[in-house]
Amino acid sequence: MRFAHFSDCHIHVPPSITDAHYLLSKRASGYLNLLLRRRHLLQAENNLYKLCRHIRSRNVDFVVFSGDISAIALPAEFLRAREIIYNSINPESLLIIPGNHDYYTFFSQKTNAFERCFSLSSKSDFPISKTDFSAYPKIRIVGNVLFLALNSARFNPLFFDASGRISQDQLRKASELLDTVNHSGITCLVLHHSLFLPCGRFDVPFHGLVNSRSVLRFCQTQGIHYILSGHIHRVSIVQTRSISQYNPGSAAQCGHFGYFLYESSDSGLRARFHSFFL
Ligand SMILES: [Fe+2]
Repeated sequence: MRFAHFSDCHIHVPPSITDAHYLLSKRASGYLNLLLRRRHLLQAENNLYKLCRHIRSRNVDFVVFSGDISAIALPAEFLRAREIIYNSINPESLLIIPGNHDYYTFFSQKTNAFERCFSLSSKSDFPISKTDFSAYPKIRIVGNVLFLALNSARFNPLFFDASGRISQDQLRKASELLDTVNHSGITCLVLHHSLFLPCGRFDVPFHGLVNSRSVLRFCQTQGIHYILSGHIHRVSIVQTRSISQYNPGSAAQCGHFGYFLYESSDSGLRARFHSFFL
């Protein structure tokens, strides 16, 4: 089985006059930051277009996106990203989870704006709720690989806080699901916040998971083999004794724009990074 993994597109669509009211929130500081310090994000749309077309040409069986599709969770950003991605990638063969930028405001999280826009790619083979399509964890099984998607994104009121958390309730439900499924192949945890920095240490306060130790314990006890994550805009592979974490960087980051292509076999995953800057 062959699959691709990309992350952190941060698609931005400047708000029109009629959408200006969306900036009456935390988005105002995000928008200013975007204009002043992160102008490279404005190139993200072209980068995402190139990346999706390239993935399509590789005839993959499945695609994973690990969060932050938008810059400030504007509805127009979600729609533009969906248009670009679905134009090249079959929505049913895509697993997509939100990042902290996709829950940029309390309202965007509360109304499930991200999940509603990407509902075709938010399905689970073992849904934990028949009515709540935004419920996590989600599981997809493709070939000999089980993908467990957990949601670490949350609305953070402070503009400098990009941290995430996976609730104990989510971890408990994930353990119960994994016990029920009893999968014997490869298990990949898909989440937005990387557990480890490229140097191998836990990510830092106000950026990483606030409960990274209990998430690591969960991975060790549940036999997670790989973590497919994003959030840190640096391409990296971190290998510990029990687990390997893959982070494909960001389509909005110069020099760190690309995707991982994985081949699964009985002995595990073989990963190759395709960079658009080599
Ligand atoms: Fe993020």
